[in-house]
Amino acid sequence: MPVWKVRGGNELSGSARVQGAKNAVLPILAASLVGGGVFRLRNCPRLKDVDASIEILRHLGCAVEREEDAITVNSAGMRDNHIPHALMLKMRSSVMYMGAILARTGEVRLSTPGGCELGSRPIDLHLKALETMGAEVRDAGAEVVCRAPGGRLRGAHVNLDFPSVGATENVMLAACAAEGETVLTNAAREPEIVDLQRCLISAGAEISGAGTPEIHIGAFRPRPETEHRIVPDRIEAATLLCAAASAGGDIELRDLAPAHIDTVCACLRDMGCRIVCGADTVRLRTPKRLRAGRPVITKPYPGFPTDAQALLMAACLRAEGTAVFVENIFESRYRHADELRRLGADIRVEGRVAMVTGVHRLTGAPLTAWDLRGGAALVAAGLAAEGETQVFDAGHIERGYDDLAGKLRSLGADVVREE
Ligand code: UD1
Repeated sequence: MPVWKVRGGNELSGSARVQGAKNAVLPILAASLVGGGVFRLRNCPRLKDVDASIEILRHLGCAVEREEDAITVNSAGMRDNHIPHALMLKMRSSVMYMGAILARTGEVRLSTPGGCELGSRPIDLHLKALETMGAEVRDAGAEVVCRAPGGRLRGAHVNLDFPSVGATENVMLAACAAEGETVLTNAAREPEIVDLQRCLISAGAEISGAGTPEIHIGAFRPRPETEHRIVPDRIEAATLLCAAASAGGDIELRDLAPAHIDTVCACLRDMGCRIVCGADTVRLRTPKRLRAGRPVITKPYPGFPTDAQALLMAACLRAEGTAVFVENIFESRYRHADELRRLGADIRVEGRVAMVTGVHRLTGAPLTAWDLRGGAALVAAGLAAEGETQVFDAGHIERGYDDLAGKLRSLGADVVREE
């Protein structure tokens, strides 16, 4: 695993382009299986999770080519419906292949994802939804087999008990090949779901409602070729803004959708940052000292994203006053707090609540990245610490960011990556 070395003290300045969204490109790569045609995707970030997805697609028999930010998948030759354990392990989100493979072949076999660094990651909502559409599910502990009797699911009214992002995507993909219309209620509303819908429409699906709690999925007449540009990554944008808030400075982000990070910008404004949004730009300037803002309560979109919780926490470490965080989406998402304390941060965690009281000084220390966003938060905090912060196990960060170290360097940070 690589180690990132961060020497704190430099303010950030300049302009950076936001990458395509990890959480959009992954389900869209899975979606390329459904119709059996060619998907030409643009604005694809270079990430470990994308590499793992390409490995899965190739394992299943697809031809995949990659050139700069473009990925072309031809799924005509798909011949397998089983994802082996070793490939599932490489990427948490491979569970979203369930709906796509089921739609294409009528049967899918996957090893179950099990727990991960954010706590147990059950897939009960995915399975229940597919069962409502007629799937026969055999859950044998280590492996799940889903089968559509007669090779085809049937459209149904599927209600999710919780607006799970992955379950929403799985239902959208599975329903494309079902007989009759599917109505999905209490669906997740994330911008990446809207992006998946846009891509599926280009691919020939009759689908509407993404971005609202009710999605309708009707007939699918697959087109031989689909072109799609991946939506900008709102979490990478939030990361760069939080990094600048932590380090201090004046940065501009380009090629993003400012509306997708409204809640993050509202919190940063509350903390004293000046933020000006253009059509596809956001500029952030920090005050002399940040102050603790309103409580940060993670919720499904359009609420504050759980993926930005650790990052905003990093930005609060030296703010005046006490900032309160409430994590509602994942049961165990404060591991970064223990690491941040090693820099001298004052953080108390009680169950789902964390309280951060600003300190005047942070001092660099060796830290461990336990997960993707938590790892990025350690880097953001290191920018504000005196001396050197080493972030071990930084491979977690590289699962979701396309050269974050390089981007931070281009904004003036002193961050190097070592193998
Ligand atoms: C997606 C994102 C991830 C983000 C998360 C929440 C991708 C690739 N990943 O993950 O970055 O942090 O949304 O915004 O898009 N749950 C169940 N049973 C299920 C499914 C989920 O109990 O069957 C629970 C999970 O344990 C978790 C919560 O629901 O506590 C949210 O999960 P979900 O929205 O499904 O997240 P992911 O799709 O895994």
